[in-house]
Amino acid sequence: MADVQLIKSRLTAHPDFPKKGIVFLDIFPILRDPFVFETLITHFTQHITSHTIGLTETKKVDVIVGLDARGFLLGPIIALRLGAAFVPVRKAGKLPGQCISASYEKEYGMDSFEMQADAIKPGQTVVIIDDLIATGGSAKTAGELVAKQGGKTLEYLFIIELMFLKAASKLDAPVYSIVQSD
Ligand code: ADE
Repeated sequence: MADVQLIKSRLTAHPDFPKKGIVFLDIFPILRDPFVFETLITHFTQHITSHTIGLTETKKVDVIVGLDARGFLLGPIIALRLGAAFVPVRKAGKLPGQCISASYEKEYGMDSFEMQADAIKPGQTVVIIDDLIATGGSAKTAGELVAKQGGKTLEYLFIIELMFLKAASKLDAPVYSIVQSD
C-alpha cells in the first residue's frame, strides 16, 4: 500500500485543462523520479504475475497492448520485464503495413484506432494498458481490435480510473487501477 500512496502523491491536478470543466490528472511527475517510476512499473508487473488475472507458471501473458499515447510510455517496459511482446494501438493513419481498424465516438464525431494486422496471433493472452481510463471509449476499441485478431484480453490496466464515468462496465475484461478518482 505504501507504493500506492507514493504513486498517488505524485499525481498533479490541472483544472480547466485542456478545456474548461476538465480537471486533468498528470502522470509525468511520476516519470521524473526514477524511484517512483520504478515503483509504478514494479507494481504493475507484480500485479500481472500475482496470478490474480488467471495466469500461472505455464500460462503467461503473451502481449502487452499500449494505447496512444501515454500507454506507450508504460507498456514496453512492462512487456520487457515479463518477456512479452509489445503492440501499439494508434490513431488511424500512423501505422505502416496492413492494419485493422475500429472506430469510436468522441465528444465531437468519430475517430478510429488501428493495430497492425499480424500483431496478435489467435489464442494469445493480452493485457491492455494506458495511463488513465475516463469514458472507456479508447480502451473498448482496443479490446475490439484484440478480439478481431483472436486474442484474449485478460485485464485492462490503468494508473488512474475516473470512477464517476463507470467505464469498467463497458469492457470485456476486468479493470485494475492503482488510483481511483471521483
Ligand atoms: N483523459 C481523459 N480525461 C482525463 C483527465 N481528467 N486527466 C488526464 N487525462 C485524461
